[in-house]
Amino acid sequence: MGAEFFGSELKLPLIAAPMFLVSGRELVTAATNHGIVGTFPALNARTTEKFSEWLDEIKESVGDRPYGVNLIVHRSNPRLEADLKICVAHKVPLIITSLGAVKDLVDTVHSYGGKVFHDVTNVYHGKKAADAGVDGIVAVSAGAGGHAGTTNPFVLASEIRSFYKGKLVLAGGLSTGAHIRAAKVLGADYAYMGTRFIATKESSVQDGFKDMIVRSNSGDIVHTPAVSGVPANFMAESLEQNGFDLKKLREKGEVDFGDKLTLNDEAKAWKDIWSAGHGVSCIQDIPTTGDLVNRLVLEYAEAAV
Ligand SMILES: Cc1cc2nc3c(=O)[nH]c(=O)nc-3n(C[C@H](O)[C@H](O)[C@H](O)COP(=O)(O)O)c2cc1C
Repeated sequence: MGAEFFGSELKLPLIAAPMFLVSGRELVTAATNHGIVGTFPALNARTTEKFSEWLDEIKESVGDRPYGVNLIVHRSNPRLEADLKICVAHKVPLIITSLGAVKDLVDTVHSYGGKVFHDVTNVYHGKKAADAGVDGIVAVSAGAGGHAGTTNPFVLASEIRSFYKGKLVLAGGLSTGAHIRAAKVLGADYAYMGTRFIATKESSVQDGFKDMIVRSNSGDIVHTPAVSGVPANFMAESLEQNGFDLKKLREKGEVDFGDKLTLNDEAKAWKDIWSAGHGVSCIQDIPTTGDLVNRLVLEYAEAAV
């Protein structure tokens, strides 16, 4: 009933998605040590030196079990080159790239035996990722936390499967074992869960963020570019607490972002304005990652068809 990740055995075909300011060492090691794939954005470590220390600690805790690092491949990320070098030195098993799918980076990661997954929200970028030779594509569908897409998950998974034979990962609102099963039925190799892992004991965010997830429903999620210039999903209550007018946000075209935000501004915004996906509706508790994985395993088995 288990699953595997390039030769490593997993308890479930599940990746705990990388989340800015949310996934730290505790969450990554808990996820990987409980038999799924833990991941985090390199930028969660404040400097490249700290990032290197984090990788030492993670490696010591997880041994040969698979874990991953998310790199933002864009010129607005001044740390990309240095962070990639650190990944190579540590032979990070999985690199998840966002924004740019670059063949050189894929070749670099392949040179030490690592794998590259790239996240996309549409077919156009999916094809670019396939051309860059990535090992997997993460299809981020409508309802996802963070920079969500707007395409229905049934359609996005099928569209990408139609031209891509590598590993397919499905994201967007997935929160239960039945959802993981559904992703497999749709042709995905792995499910990708972000929001579900914010509401765990090991995630790095304050309790207020976790509690808001538990009391929110899908209707409380607002897809807006107002916070970071790129459309992302945020909890309505958090937007209101930070002075946003929900009525205006929901009326398309009413928002003026002014100049493009710097990386620093963006970090400040994401710290105070809490992002989560439609999956909040299926999240009623804040378990340990271990308890969550065990429950997902049972639900996944029960959902077998
Ligand atoms: C608070 C938050 C922060 C995120 N930060 C990142 C990030 O830094 N890099 C990234 O590739 N994806 C990021 N994501 C997106 C997740 O990796 C993943 O695609 C998404 O959470 C999946 O949808 P779900 O939340 O409905 O499970 C973030 C998501 C959330 C909720």
